[in-house]
Amino acid sequence: MRAHVVTLFPEFFTGPLALSILGRAVERGVARVTCTNPRDFATDRHRTVDDAPYGGGPGMILKAPLLVDAVESLVGAGNPRRVPVILLSPQGECFTQARAAALARTPEFVLVCGHYKGIDERFKDLVVTDEVSIGDFVLSGGEPAALVMLDAVVRLLPGALGDEDSAAGDSFGIEGQSGLDCAYYTRPPVYRGHAVPQVLMSGHHARVATWRTHDAATRTQALRPDLVKESPSDRGRTQAGGRRESH
Ligand code: 6GU
Repeated sequence: MRAHVVTLFPEFFTGPLALSILGRAVERGVARVTCTNPRDFATDRHRTVDDAPYGGGPGMILKAPLLVDAVESLVGAGNPRRVPVILLSPQGECFTQARAAALARTPEFVLVCGHYKGIDERFKDLVVTDEVSIGDFVLSGGEPAALVMLDAVVRLLPGALGDEDSAAGDSFGIEGQSGLDCAYYTRPPVYRGHAVPQVLMSGHHARVATWRTHDAATRTQALRPDLVKESPSDRGRTQAGGRRESH
């Protein structure tokens, strides 16, 4: 997978991209991530990237030509390979596990980090294919959102996690909104009076599996009842309890 990030702050990514799961995946070549700075496409002496909005008002607007040039340097003029160009902004469609899974199947994509007050609308008209938000709050720039998305996507790639299967039972399943994960425990068996559920130490795999399915369902019902609401298309399926189910 090749991910390109268009950002005025490439330094933002150097630490996180070198660490943990993301760092290991990049090091192993499972994912390749490049950063492109629109400022490098500015031709004036001060390398200006933004300007005041037509019609007046506060804040500065990122100039369309620099962003278009930055994106076209990655995907080519007219984007003939139809590489997804995703603008990160609070106005976008919500990023979900299903979107992460879809991106993990996309061999190449571009994430564009917005900044300041906004972006010249012509950039969206000309090159943006999708607009994505990571939640209902406002960040001062798209960079943290790009990192969130890269983490969620890269960990789904084959070979990114040490144990091939460990993404399969995640909260939300691999494809969608099947529910939260169960509780986990490790040694010691009793800690400050809190004991590990006996069944987990029984060595009985079928009973452990049943307990985990039930615990996941109970937690989802208690903590995220919105994920359990039955929709007509879900009728007849296991609801949140199905931690192995994906749809
Ligand atoms: Cl993707 N960008 C910005 N600037 N703010 C956000 C966001 C993205 N998602 C939620 N808030």
